[in-house]
Amino acid sequence: MTTAIGAEKPKFYITTPIYYPSSNLHIGHTYCTVMADAMARFRRLAGYDVMFLTGTDEHGQKIQRIADGEGVTPQEHVDKIVGGIKELWATMEISYDDFIRTTEDRHKLRVQEFFRAIYEKGDIYKGVYEGWYCTPCESYWTDKQLADGKCPDCGRPVERAKEDAYFFRLSDYQDRLLALFAENPGFLEPETRRNEMIKFVEQGLEDLCVSRSSFDWGIRVPIDEGQVIYVWLDALSNYITALGYPDAGDGISSEKYERYWPADVHLVGKEIVRFHSIIWPALLMSLELPLPKQVLGHGWLLLDGGKMSKSKGNVVDPVKLIERYGVDALKYFLLREYTFGQDGLYTNEAMIGRINADLANDLGNLLSRTAGMIEKYFGGHIEGPADGSAGGSVGPADGSAGLLTGGPGVLPAEGAEALDAQLAALATAAAGKVEGHMDVFAFNHALEEIWALISRSNKYIDETAPWALAKDEARRARLEAVLYNLAEALRIVSVLIYPFMHHSADEIRSQLGIAGKTAMWRDASVWGAEGAYDVVKGAALFPRLDMEAELAALEALK
Ligand code: ME8
Repeated sequence: MTTAIGAEKPKFYITTPIYYPSSNLHIGHTYCTVMADAMARFRRLAGYDVMFLTGTDEHGQKIQRIADGEGVTPQEHVDKIVGGIKELWATMEISYDDFIRTTEDRHKLRVQEFFRAIYEKGDIYKGVYEGWYCTPCESYWTDKQLADGKCPDCGRPVERAKEDAYFFRLSDYQDRLLALFAENPGFLEPETRRNEMIKFVEQGLEDLCVSRSSFDWGIRVPIDEGQVIYVWLDALSNYITALGYPDAGDGISSEKYERYWPADVHLVGKEIVRFHSIIWPALLMSLELPLPKQVLGHGWLLLDGGKMSKSKGNVVDPVKLIERYGVDALKYFLLREYTFGQDGLYTNEAMIGRINADLANDLGNLLSRTAGMIEKYFGGHIEGPADGSAGGSVGPADGSAGLLTGGPGVLPAEGAEALDAQLAALATAAAGKVEGHMDVFAFNHALEEIWALISRSNKYIDETAPWALAKDEARRARLEAVLYNLAEALRIVSVLIYPFMHHSADEIRSQLGIAGKTAMWRDASVWGAEGAYDVVKGAALFPRLDMEAELAALEALK
């Protein structure tokens, strides 16, 4: 499926966090990237000019220590892991527009420009840092911020640090940050995170240490050779350095910055909301640049009650799941199973259960039953009603207007008209409902809406009983109308699921014989867009899985 290019498209800029290439990514990381990908694909299909950015956060003490432990240089270490991350995104067909590595010159030069600009403004000064440091989180903590002597974010031990350093006058921005939260409640969601952040700022912000001198794996402070820039200042800047801002004299234009900044949404995990909703806005305020429109904090995928994490080693490898079940199944599961903003438990049972119930049964059966009957009863070719009611009109949301009837020459069976109208109305209203859920990142509700249409379509088969109609030659037109309605419902489903599972969307379109046709989101609101279908039944979309056998196989793969 392709999207049409319009001249004056609205823009949409979405980012994921840039991942630490400390070791291979697990399914928890793919969760955020899958959400961003679905949103980017959805907006593109709806006609937006989308910029979807991801990348890797490659500097800092954590990476340096890992590389030291492996006996390789930090650059060698990150090159290896980043190669694997890019492969993972290729396997998952993540549709990012740019992948930024913080070790790239285009990024390093611009971060130095930021540091210099903030310093020249007087918002950075030199001092001595004395306090705590959590290396896994790369974050500073004061005595009173620690939780039982440990990092309040990740619960791991912190280290005492004392070093010469540069500080950013974060405390000066306290009032402006509180005003931001008060005046623009949509800036940070969900609300629980916003309340936490307001409390955090109200407790008083300390100036932020923005350089390190006890190791050297970082971007040099431009005014001091003995210091490297704090990895979070380095990392957060990626959202605009990737757009070519500011000018660093390297020939890269800032055209993308002009076009896409401010970001429409920074999608981040809940534990890094603080960096994105306090430190990042304060840095941008200092630079006198526009703030991102929204920061959204998602929950964690948990395993056996704890957070899945690289350092704990309790991770699920997405590649193994994809090899067994395919990309679409994994994406569908992640987007359907969890509620944005909340933590959720990952289990193999839940994943296999969803594949069987929603994908193999509901969606897969709808396609195979419909395609099978169109082949069996009409040799694959069916046409819409000859009275022109399938002429591409937008269907009414209330199902009131007479849409498809039994076809010329045959009176519809009792209630047929109402049934058809109901199906058409539900189908054409789905896109609008999905949009509403996507606007608030409620992927699960968006998919529920689509599955309501799929279920209704399956029920429509049972209600209209095409196999019974097929026994009576006089009802052949009615049979064709029923199958045509199902093909239309499936075509609409193919558009609706495209942002979430584009292989399945393409496969449905291929079996319906419309693979070569361009579809846009708006086509999902049109009943009768195709006048006829030439169907070729293909393989099952999702084979049904044997739960016990799969659980055992996944256990053996651990
Ligand atoms: O924090 N479930 O990188 P990171 C859901 N480099 N999300 C999870 C998860 C899980 N089990 N485990 C990790 C960093 N994540 C910084 C970001 S941005 C300027 C710099 C998410 O590799 C986590 O919540 O430790 C975070 O949003 C993202 O993966 C990157 O984590």
